[in-house]
Amino acid sequence: MRILITGSSGQIGTNLALRLQEAGIEVLGIDLRENAWVDTIKDLRYDLRRPPTELIDLLADEPLDLVVHLAAYAKVHELVIHPERALENIATTFGVLEFCRARALPIVFGSSREAYGDTSEGITAEDRPVVAKSPYSASKIAGEALVGSYSSCYGIPSLVFRFSNVYGRYDNDLERMERVMPLFIREIAAGREVTVFGREKVLDFTYVDDTISAICKGIDLLYRGEVQAHTINVAAGRGASLIDLVEFIGRALGVTPKLRTEPTRPGEITRYVADITKARRLLGYDPTVFLEEGVRRAVAWSGVSASPAARGE
Ligand SMILES: NC(=O)c1ccc[n+]([C@@H]2O[C@H](COP(=O)([O-])OP(=O)(O)OC[C@H]3O[C@@H](n4cnc5c(N)ncnc54)[C@H](O)[C@@H]3O)[C@@H](O)[C@H]2O)c1
Repeated sequence: MRILITGSSGQIGTNLALRLQEAGIEVLGIDLRENAWVDTIKDLRYDLRRPPTELIDLLADEPLDLVVHLAAYAKVHELVIHPERALENIATTFGVLEFCRARALPIVFGSSREAYGDTSEGITAEDRPVVAKSPYSASKIAGEALVGSYSSCYGIPSLVFRFSNVYGRYDNDLERMERVMPLFIREIAAGREVTVFGREKVLDFTYVDDTISAICKGIDLLYRGEVQAHTINVAAGRGASLIDLVEFIGRALGVTPKLRTEPTRPGEITRYVADITKARRLLGYDPTVFLEEGVRRAVAWSGVSASPAARGE
C-alpha cells in the first residue's frame, strides 16, 4: 500500500508517516514546509491551495492507494483573527477531493471536535447537530460536508476523524504554532508564569500514539472496504481542565508552576469530553495513555528540564 499524507510536516502527519513507515507501508507526503524534526519522510513541497488540476498533474506518475488529508490552518484562535484562512482550508479540502475523484482514491479526513461547538452536557455523540463556534469550526464542518458529498455523488470511500487536543511528540515548533502543551512545558520549565484562558475549560487531551493507532486502524479498514462513510470521535474520552494540565506539567518537571487565569477567548470551546463508543466499536480503539502519564512522556520527549529559577534557586 502507498499512502499520500497531506500536511506531512505537521504534528499528526509526522507521527502518522513514521508509524506507517515502521509498519512497512510506503508514504508520500505533501506540505508547504520542510519537516522540522525528521528527514526520513519522502515528501513534496507544494501549496494545496493551488488549482486541483495542478495537483492531479503533479502526482500523475505516483502510484497511490489512499489519501490522508491533514493539511490545514489548524489553530482556532488564528482563524478568529484571519477568517479568510477558513475559506482556504475549505478550498484545500476541495482540491484534495478533486484529486481523489480523478484517481478514484479513498480519503481519510482530519476533522476536529470543533465540529460540535460547545457541549454543555459534557458527552458527545457523532450524530449531534453541528454548531460552528469559530471560522475554524466552520471550515471543518464544510470539509466534512464536502467529503460526505464526494462519497455519495462519486463513490469516494471516506472516513472522517474528529480529533481532540492531540499532544506528545513532534508538536514543539512553537515559533510556527503555539500549542498549549509544549508552550506550558517550556514556560513552566523556565519558571515563567503561564496564562490559562478559561479556568472553567474542560477538554479531552489525546496522547498522540492513541490518535495514530485509531487512524492506522481506520486506514486499514477503509482500504479493505470494511468500514466507510463514518464520522468517528478520536480522543481519550476523559475530561481535564487546563489547571489540571498545569499541575501535571509542574509534577513532571518537579516544580510549582506560576499561573494566572484570563477569560476564554472568542471562538474557543469551554467543554468537550468525547464519546468514543463508536471508535471502540468500529476500530477496536482503546486509548491507553491518559493525561498525567501522557504529560510525563511529553515532557520526557521535549528534553526540557526545570531551570534553577523554576526550582526557586
Ligand atoms: N493536533 C490537534 O490537536 C488537532 C485537533 C483537531 C483537529 N486537528 C486537525 O488535524 C489536522 C492535522 O493537525 P496538526 O496538529 O498536525 O496540524 P499542523 O499545523 O501541525 O499540520 C498541518 C500541516 O499542514 C500544512 N499545510 C497547511 N496548509 C497547507 C497547504 N495549503 N498546502 C500544503 N500544506 C499545508 C502545514 O504546513 C502543516 O505542516 C489538521 O487538519 C487539524 O485541523 C488537529
